[in-house]
Amino acid sequence: MADEKQNGPAATITVGNVETTDQPCEEFCSDPCGIVIFGASGDLTRRKLIPSLYRLSKNGLVSKNFFVLGASRSKMNDESFRADMEKAVREDGGFDAKAWAEFSSRLFYAPVDGFTDRASYDRLKAALSEKNRVFSTTGNRIFYLATPPSAYGEIAGMLGEAGMSDESAGWARLVIEKPFGRDLQSALELNSALYKHFKEEQIYRIDHYLGKDTVQNILMLRFANTIFEPIWNRRYIDHVQITVAESIGIEKRAGYYEEAGVLRDMFQNHILQVLSLVAMEPPSVYESELVRDERVKVLRALRPLGMDNMRSSLVIGQYAAGEVDGRRVAGYRDEEGVPKDSVTPTFAAMKVFIDNWRWQDVPFYIRSGKRFPKKFSEILIQFKALPHRMFKETLYGEIGPNALILQIQPDERVQMKFHTKNPGSRVKLRDVIMDFAYKQGYTGLLLDAYERVILDCMIGDKMLFVREDGMRLCWSFLKDALELIDEQGPYSPELLFYRSGSTGPLESDFLIQLDGKLWRNHG
Ligand code: NDP
Ligand code: BG6
Repeated sequence: MADEKQNGPAATITVGNVETTDQPCEEFCSDPCGIVIFGASGDLTRRKLIPSLYRLSKNGLVSKNFFVLGASRSKMNDESFRADMEKAVREDGGFDAKAWAEFSSRLFYAPVDGFTDRASYDRLKAALSEKNRVFSTTGNRIFYLATPPSAYGEIAGMLGEAGMSDESAGWARLVIEKPFGRDLQSALELNSALYKHFKEEQIYRIDHYLGKDTVQNILMLRFANTIFEPIWNRRYIDHVQITVAESIGIEKRAGYYEEAGVLRDMFQNHILQVLSLVAMEPPSVYESELVRDERVKVLRALRPLGMDNMRSSLVIGQYAAGEVDGRRVAGYRDEEGVPKDSVTPTFAAMKVFIDNWRWQDVPFYIRSGKRFPKKFSEILIQFKALPHRMFKETLYGEIGPNALILQIQPDERVQMKFHTKNPGSRVKLRDVIMDFAYKQGYTGLLLDAYERVILDCMIGDKMLFVREDGMRLCWSFLKDALELIDEQGPYSPELLFYRSGSTGPLESDFLIQLDGKLWRNHG
């Protein structure tokens, strides 16, 4: 930050005792239900879904009337599926034999011959009714689509044709993983396909960032305190930065990532959703639809980047070889499965404005990239500079602006940067940081993002899911940028290469420096 450079690093004051009002777990227990996971042999099921369901069960957050039915084309039976999932849970950590025995007695596998094979759905329906009876779920069911996105529409259609979207005996919910389409047009087409058999109320579009505790905390911090809201506007805020930086590359996901790139992977969903929480108006009540209404209003007010301004508001990059965590790493084009001439961006930085009364002319600088030196996601609210320097005769140097820093992950904290007098006889200022570690003083249960969203889906709380209009507005906002990048024509933003282990191309620093500001970086 500009002021940090001028005044040196700030001292840190840790907030003292924290009083919490923890709720007993029982209050959040799910409704009775069965969960069918399509794509049960896949990576997401192994790494996230089953470990999350296991932890929810172990911690008594799911109803006793509950079961999981995995479905995919791989040849497995209940025993081999359970054995594989046990390995996954052990790798995840926190394995407990008794809790696993209880959970795995509710875990089943249903092989399918193909996701468009009608006979497979009839078999699945019969298996589901039998389990519903055994586990007394009153017919409630969740269909979690963890397959390649190209299969979402077909699976939803086949479920509908087999009568499984019908809610006459228990509710039926459809969970859709990201990406929801690859542009506005395909997202609308997917929506229409889902709507043939499922109503909007039955559709749960996942954005796991909304399930992160510290992301939800943005609303608590803003609206459960009186001190922030009066200054949360263009009068006091100079600019906002949102950074989602990762030190990893694309891992083994070249096929997916080549199709997506950073704008589809991180901006269309996670970053724009976080931005909407930072910028939204307070709803009258903390209730799903009202909160979602306010988020959507922000997305609707996003100023289009516009073809003409694209180059001055968007910088894109791709990681080249370099060093991360003391280890040599390959460039994107040398990753397994990536073409040597790939022009897929793995980094983007964007300057965004929100055209409304609260935020007019306040720039939001948003950025995300792979192969940063360090993983960190954070929001910086930079307040305006002092209007008048009454200390100018006594003190030398600039007095930097105040800042509120919301660290989303991995080190979850809220920090307030301000100035105090240095102790001692000389009148001298120092920058200090009031620092609150999010988990400090809390001894209760912690839910990770997937546990949170799965539990909410079982309860039927849609606050953390993306509504149809929100999804559409995010795609619309990015439409021009995506077209230009995909086309790689004369007006396209230039793809710049950055060294792995750096914080993106230099031009992304210029994007913000031209406005007299600096990115806040870590590592
Ligand atoms: P995988 O490729 O690991 O697994 C896909 C699953 O779908 C497999 O079980 C596969 O099983 C089945 N499948 C494969 N091809 C088809 C097909 N043509 N029709 C139907 N089913 C098929 O993918 P992931 O688990 O990584 O991802 C699943 C979804 O979750 C994707 O949409 C992804 O974008 C999303 N996601 C994944 C994340 C992750 O960390 N992995 C993070 C966020 C979202 P079988 O061949 O046995 O049928
Ligand atoms: C996923 C993206 O949605 O989010 C990945 O597809 C990314 O590319 C991941 O690595 C980041 O999630 P988290 O929770 O680790 O910040």
